[in-house]
Amino acid sequence: MSASSENKGGNKLRVGVILGGVSSEKEVSLESGRNIFAKMDRKKYNPTAIFMDSRGGFWEIPLKLLMRNSTRDIEMDLDEEGKKIPYEELKFRVDLIYIGLHGKYGEDGCLQGLLEILDIPYTGSGVLGSALGMDKYTCRRIFAMNGIDVPKTVPVERCEWEGGRKEAILEGIAKDIGFPCVVKPTREGCSTAVKKVVSKDGIPDALAGAFEWDNVVLVEEFIEGMEVTCGVIGNDEPLALTPSETIPTQDILSLEDKFLYGQGENKTPARVPEEVLKRIQGVAGQAYRALGLKGYSRIDMFVRKDGRVAVLEPNTLPGMTPSTVLFHQAAASGINQSDLIDRVIGFALEAHENKRGPL
Ligand SMILES: Nc1ncnc2c1ncn2[C@@H]1O[C@H](COP(=O)(O)OP(=O)(O)O)[C@@H](O)[C@H]1O
Ligand SMILES: [Mg+2]
Repeated sequence: MSASSENKGGNKLRVGVILGGVSSEKEVSLESGRNIFAKMDRKKYNPTAIFMDSRGGFWEIPLKLLMRNSTRDIEMDLDEEGKKIPYEELKFRVDLIYIGLHGKYGEDGCLQGLLEILDIPYTGSGVLGSALGMDKYTCRRIFAMNGIDVPKTVPVERCEWEGGRKEAILEGIAKDIGFPCVVKPTREGCSTAVKKVVSKDGIPDALAGAFEWDNVVLVEEFIEGMEVTCGVIGNDEPLALTPSETIPTQDILSLEDKFLYGQGENKTPARVPEEVLKRIQGVAGQAYRALGLKGYSRIDMFVRKDGRVAVLEPNTLPGMTPSTVLFHQAAASGINQSDLIDRVIGFALEAHENKRGPL
């Protein structure tokens, strides 16, 4: 396959847009996936919507299913309206997969691994970059090794907490992190079980909530300052887009703040001096390179009160809903929604052409 996404010889690239999936973010994925599907340039691409059901199976779905209100509504009629695609048949139906999934199994390297085995080019980061990006603790250690500022963090393992070390763990948190602090699962998204805790008394409940989602929970310093986020696109020479400021309606940004129309607020560009914008872009690019990310990503950060830029987390498959902040940042950098999708596909083809072994 050519490294360019140009339409040579009149044959449009067949792009399967995978959406839905099994994670807590499947409804957001539906919104992202159908926006990607809708905005994809029809002169170059021939898109197919591929729904991932709650057991991880693939289904080619027609427009009338794609337009349903929820993944549950789609799933109900799959047998009647959809066409089941066994994994090994996927490569006969598409030339490339645009991954419109978020969260577990879609964003964390699992699907990427399957697509590597099937030898199908796909958008975004590879197996390792995706897995690192999903694990908030592991990627922080890599950031710190690269001189990138991160929140002070104490990981708490469920077996230790439940194994009678509660007092020692609580003391460790009070000593090493202090209050207020933030408790969250290591590998979730959309603020799932993310809690601000103001005293030792609040820790057990917050931990119990987060252990519902993961066996390792992070307790971290509550960062005061301006929350910012910056899209980065590209492979070997990544380009940081125009950073945005994130204005939460509560202390912790909720799913509704992030993705539903008219809720929460972002300002692009962030209302900081030009020099700080540059610093944010610099850190975003550094974080992207430190994890070896590909295609596109959105790095969430804080500008601390003293001006240092700390990385909170990378999002290796950031939201692609119509109103999402990544598109505002791209627009501020002169790239419209269709262009961004086009570039992401171009980066995917380039990365797969150049790889030696799995991405
Ligand atoms: N250490 C922190 N200090 C201040 N606010 C935080 C901290 N951690 C999380 N938050 C708030 O909670 C939101 C969700 O946390 P985040 O770590 O990004 O989890 P998720 O992966 O669920 O998005 C952030 O966007 C931020 O507003
Ligand atoms: Mg986040």
